[in-house]
Order: sequence, then structure tokens, then C-alpha cells
Amino acid sequence: MKLSIEEKQELENIYNSFKENEKIQRMKQVPMHRGSNCFIHCFKVAKLAVKRGLRHKKADLKLVLLGSILHDYYLYDWRTDKSKKKRHGYDHPFIASKNAEEDFQVPKEVKDIIESHMWPMNIKFFPKTKEARIVTLADKAIAIKESLSSISYKKKREEKYLKDIELLFDK
Ligand SMILES: [Fe+2]
Ligand SMILES: [Fe+2]
Repeated sequence: MKLSIEEKQELENIYNSFKENEKIQRMKQVPMHRGSNCFIHCFKVAKLAVKRGLRHKKADLKLVLLGSILHDYYLYDWRTDKSKKKRHGYDHPFIASKNAEEDFQVPKEVKDIIESHMWPMNIKFFPKTKEARIVTLADKAIAIKESLSSISYKKKREEKYLKDIELLFDK
């Protein structure tokens, strides 16, 4: 699918406004796979998912973008919050979806993307739409890449990551 300059700009604007949003910035406090945090992770997933979404005819890229940015908007650190540790894998999509609804009034389609992103671990919540499948696959690809990176959290790495996610569409 080819986007017009205006369509690209619209997506880029949504991406930027979420990146600058104070509520979204709280995800920076949530550590993730080595050297990453929830904020970096979600915007990396957003970039990859939108890029892949462009290959699909008629994928709604706005849904892909919102679903990606908010898919891990659960806002706690399961490593230190013992009450969450055990069920984190199963519960966090629903906690993220609830937070996304409360803070950003997202539509049902976006909630569905968030809630099904842990398939097949959450076997009952199959990603039913094209947009949800794009996000769940992009999430896995980014998570694997992050888990394989050799260095634990380092300032330098964070700076590089933040540079990587500066723009939705690389120039
Ligand atoms: Fe997740
Ligand atoms: Fe994720």
C-alpha cells in the first residue's frame, strides 16, 4: 500500500504526540529485555509493525500504530512487584488494555490488538484481525532481538535506542 505524503504525516504526528505524552513517558521507568525499557520497546514495535503493515493491502495503519504503542502499557515492573510476577505473561495485555482505555479512550479494535498480542501464550485470545496479527508478530520479532542483545542496561545503549525511535518513517 502506498501512502500519500499527508497520510504519512498524519501517522508521524500521532507517533510524535504519543512519544511526547507524559503518561506514555512513564513507560521509560519500566525495564524490559536487556538494555531496553517499555517506552523504547513499544515505539520499536510501532515502527516495525507500521513498516510491515505497508506491505498489506487495506491494513488500517492507524490501528496498527495505536495498538503497537499501547500493547505493553501496563505500567508496573513485574520483576519487583511480586504480586504481578506469576501471572504477568497472561495478565499484562488486559491491564494494558484497561489503562489504554482509561487514559486514551481507544476504540475496541485497539483494545483487541492489545489483548491478543500475547498469543499463542494466551491461547484463547487469538489475534483476529490483520492489524492484530501484524502487531503480535512485530512484538515477537523485537522482543527476540532485544533478548539477544549482549549488554545489560547502559546509558550509551539507551541513547542509541532513543535515536532509533526518533521518527516513525526513517528518512
Ligand atoms: Fe507484552
Ligand atoms: Fe511487547
